[in-house]
Amino acid sequence: MDPLAALAEFEQAALAAIAAATNAPALEQVRIEFLGKKQGRLKDLQSLLGKATPEQRPVLGKRFNDVKEAVTAALEAKLTSVAKPAVAATAIDLTLPGTPIELGRLHPITQTVREFQGIMARFGFEVVDGPELEDEWHNFDGLNIPLEHPARDPLDNFYLAAACTATGEPMLLRSQTSMLLRSQTSNVQIRVMEQRKPAPVRIISVGRVYRPDDIDATHHVMFHQLEGLMIGPDVTMASLKSVLRMFAAAYLGGDSEVRFRPSFFPFTEPSVEVDVRWKDRWLELGGAGMVDPNVLTAVGYDPEQVTGFAFGLGIARFCMLRHGIDDIRLFYQNDVRFLRQF
Ligand code: FA5
Repeated sequence: MDPLAALAEFEQAALAAIAAATNAPALEQVRIEFLGKKQGRLKDLQSLLGKATPEQRPVLGKRFNDVKEAVTAALEAKLTSVAKPAVAATAIDLTLPGTPIELGRLHPITQTVREFQGIMARFGFEVVDGPELEDEWHNFDGLNIPLEHPARDPLDNFYLAAACTATGEPMLLRSQTSMLLRSQTSNVQIRVMEQRKPAPVRIISVGRVYRPDDIDATHHVMFHQLEGLMIGPDVTMASLKSVLRMFAAAYLGGDSEVRFRPSFFPFTEPSVEVDVRWKDRWLELGGAGMVDPNVLTAVGYDPEQVTGFAFGLGIARFCMLRHGIDDIRLFYQNDVRFLRQF
């Protein structure tokens, strides 16, 4: 066969094989077949060169080198291009619509807490925090709730120190040092007054409290309270009523009606229940009253020198009124379809 024609045929066949190969292993097969050093087809052609006449040799030699270079270059170019699609597949397509980023939001109770803190701060009340895990002194004794008081009943509280009798009966350790999940934010009253002397004190505290109540539309075993405390030389029941009226107006609207009903709490005297008018009925928001002299004495204040008021309001009830929510359980089920609305 004419060596030039053989070279042309080789080139054509090699380029066609390179074009047909679609991946790196196939291209390697092509390389071995056409350019392989041991048995490649180019090696066969090389032997033709040896048989060429001295006149043919320069032309044939050049053509041989050109063909070899062209096939090698085509092979390398194809190798690069078959490596590319993997990159292309993962490349970012800037024309595609993006994945929407969902912004988180605050839980409605947290929103309400923040708003309460803002309102009361404007009235000059400092925001303080207190422990949820409390000892009996701060949750009861300091608040004039003696050991035999029914509010301390183990069935009405989450005591932490528990043991069993030999018969398996629960036996709660009722010493002054036993701990419980606080049943009211009023523990913060005691903690603040213990540390701040002399008065004045003007604080609020918002947080979770725990009671083993039956869960229904208005009760939960864990809920939030807003505690307020103001102590000073001239604090009166009128101060308490003004602050609570202003507070209800600031949160629920200027025309909201607030009612005070006589009540009883061991730590206030006199005591009241605070109700707010909602649509055509009165709803209980919490308790309040003038701090009992026994409480002032327990924390080292002189009841002859200072007086004070305190209040404790259920937060969820406010939030339910504002948003027309009729079931407190919705706040704690963490269903995002509900939470997304706030
Ligand atoms: C108290 O907890 C007193 N510490 C309030 C107080 C503070 C009185 C300072 C005087 C001075 P009471 O148990 O009534 O009071 O609870 C207050 C409010 O918490 C209730 O009016 C109600 O709004 C809310 N609350 C009570 N129990 C639950 C419950 N299980 N689930 C949701 N909210 C509740």
